[in-house]
Amino acid sequence: MTKEQFLEAMNFRHACKVFDETKKISNDDLNFILEIGRKSPSSFGMEPWKFLVIQNQELKEKVKPACWNQAQITSCSDLVIVLAKIEDLKVETGIPEKRFARRPMPQEKRDFYVNLYASHLKETLSSDKNIYEWTARQTYIAAGNMMTAAAGIGIDSCPIEGFEKEKLEAILELDTTKYQVALVLPFGYRLNEQSEQLRLDFNEVVEFVK
Ligand SMILES: Cc1cc2nc3c(=O)[nH]c(=O)nc-3n(C[C@H](O)[C@H](O)[C@H](O)COP(=O)(O)O)c2cc1C
Repeated sequence: MTKEQFLEAMNFRHACKVFDETKKISNDDLNFILEIGRKSPSSFGMEPWKFLVIQNQELKEKVKPACWNQAQITSCSDLVIVLAKIEDLKVETGIPEKRFARRPMPQEKRDFYVNLYASHLKETLSSDKNIYEWTARQTYIAAGNMMTAAAGIGIDSCPIEGFEKEKLEAILELDTTKYQVALVLPFGYRLNEQSEQLRLDFNEVVEFVK
C-alpha cells in the first residue's frame, strides 16, 4: 500500500451517522475487517477481546434504546459489539499461562513470564473494574484498525461510546464476569455525503522533543 492510499482511507473514514439500509457488506469484506481486528496488538499478547456481530434486525432494534437511540445501530449492515475480556486475564484461570505457552519455551521461562505478568499487573488484576479499564483500552486499538481497514475497502463505520453499559450488557445477556462491552461499532455504507473532517493543526498535536 502506498502512503497516498493509506491517507485516502484515513480521509474516507468518518463517523458515519446514518447508513444506507439497502446496502449489505459481503461476508468476504466483513471477515476481512474482523480479521484485521483479530491481528491487532495486545498487552502481553492476551488478546483480551471478542467481537460480537449482530446482523439480526430485531436484535439491533432491541439494542438501539441502550445506545442513545442512535440511527447507526439499526441502519448499519453489521453491528459489531466490541467486548473486553475480564476473567481470562486472571492468573488463577491458567489462561495467561496458556497464552505465553503458545511460544515454545521451557517451563522455567513460562513461570518467569507468568510471575512477571502477575507482579507487573498486581493493581490492574485486583478487581474486575481495573481489568476492564485495561482490556477495554486495548480493544480500541483493534477497533481503530478495523475502522481503517474498512475505510480502505470503501466501508463506513462509527465508533460509538454513547451507550448505557449495564443496560446493553443485560440486553445481550452477557456474563459480565467474563465479558463487558467496551465499544459499539457499526459498519455499513453511508447514506449521506461525509461531513468535513475537522482536525487541529499538525504542530498543535505533534511536538518533537529536543
Ligand atoms: C471513543 C469514541 C466514542 C464516540 N462515540 C460516538 C457516538 O456515540 N456517536 C457518534 O455519532 N459518534 C461517536 N464518535 C465519533 C466522534 O464524534 C468523531 O469521530 C469525531 O467527532 C471526529 O469526526 P470524524 O470521525 O467524522 O472525523 C465517537 C468517537 C470515539 C473515538
